Amino acid sequence: MAQFQISLPALERNARILYEVACASGARVLVALKAFSTTAGLAVLRPYAAGCCASGLYEARLGARHLGGHVAVYSPAYREAELAELLEFAHHIDFNSVPQWQRWRATCLAHPRVQSGELQLGLRINPCFSTGHTAIYDPCVPGSRLGIPAEQLAGADLTGISGLHFHTLCEQGAQELIDTFRAFEKQFGSLLASPQIRYLNLGGGHWITKPDYDRAALIGLLREIREMYHTEVYLEPGEAWAIHTGVLRARVLDVFESLGYHHAILDVSASAHMPDVLEMPYRPEVYTLCPGGTGTPALSLPGEQYSPAGTPGEKAHTYRLGAPTCLAGDIIGDYSFDHPLQVDDTIILDDMSHYTLVKTTHFNGVPHPDIAVVPADGSVQVVRPFSYTDFESRLG
Ligand SMILES: Cc1ncc(COP(=O)(O)O)c(C=O)c1O
Repeated sequence: MAQFQISLPALERNARILYEVACASGARVLVALKAFSTTAGLAVLRPYAAGCCASGLYEARLGARHLGGHVAVYSPAYREAELAELLEFAHHIDFNSVPQWQRWRATCLAHPRVQSGELQLGLRINPCFSTGHTAIYDPCVPGSRLGIPAEQLAGADLTGISGLHFHTLCEQGAQELIDTFRAFEKQFGSLLASPQIRYLNLGGGHWITKPDYDRAALIGLLREIREMYHTEVYLEPGEAWAIHTGVLRARVLDVFESLGYHHAILDVSASAHMPDVLEMPYRPEVYTLCPGGTGTPALSLPGEQYSPAGTPGEKAHTYRLGAPTCLAGDIIGDYSFDHPLQVDDTIILDDMSHYTLVKTTHFNGVPHPDIAVVPADGSVQVVRPFSYTDFESRLG
């Protein structure tokens, strides 16, 4: 049975790095739950995180319960009942458009938690400054619905607003953030400098836990913003907390040749279990079990060694790894191996903790991989088994 496996020590390694950035810069670093929300993993992050970044009521409730601390919410639009509940426990609520702010302004300003300052209200800004290369992940593409551009903000009634928020990056470095902040500063610097603004949220997309990320440059920028603008600064990465902390362990169900290709059908689906492989798209690293192998996936179990798969043709045996679904394009990719693949071989799909577990489906009724955590002793502890009843009950 396929299984998502999450390394708890690897989560803690990332969390320590983010905590160090928070301590050195004075910024508050939240966990974006949209990237990772397995509660057994959040328990590890909790001591290091300032709180959560939530996309709406459900994530906000999860964060309040399993991370504690600060609850920052941003949604492109709020429902009445959702907002009423958020007003009772969130600490920041950010609005995506001037009409959303106008619609909810009176309700928010009448609330005692807003009046006492316990809950602050902000606007998501769009600095219209793209640094990414993948349009589907770029909130600054022409025609974007995410965030308020400068010309839309001009003339709006900002009474009651005390925060600004932008999110434009995706898997990017400190320099892209610096460039984006400078573009933001040119357009919104005078508003940021006004005493009305008490927090600035720099969104997510900061790949802070990547070994070559320039953390000194990030810390320098965060300190500069805090000192120059006398404002609290928030970061809300998701991926950086959970990157390189887990694998999806799959099994070969069939091997055959057709139309000039060698196919291996796995018991997992890109569409149902790793949608970013198709959406982004990207090519995950793949490993096989191999005594004496020197590969290092995100998670290694005691007594196992791993060999990395190569690009097509690099090693002796090339296969197209595909899913047991009807979708013709449900293909993980073409990989080569030292040995021919056989039914029941284990295939390790690397780096599958972030933006995978949160996006899975039961498409085609493919059994959902169980979710397991692996503490430092290397034991595999299933925290969420899945069965037929999950499939049957999901769609009513
Ligand atoms: C508003 C907002 N904040 C934070 C994040 C987290 O980004 P990442 O996981 O890339 O760090 C996202 C991701 O889409 C987002 O839309």
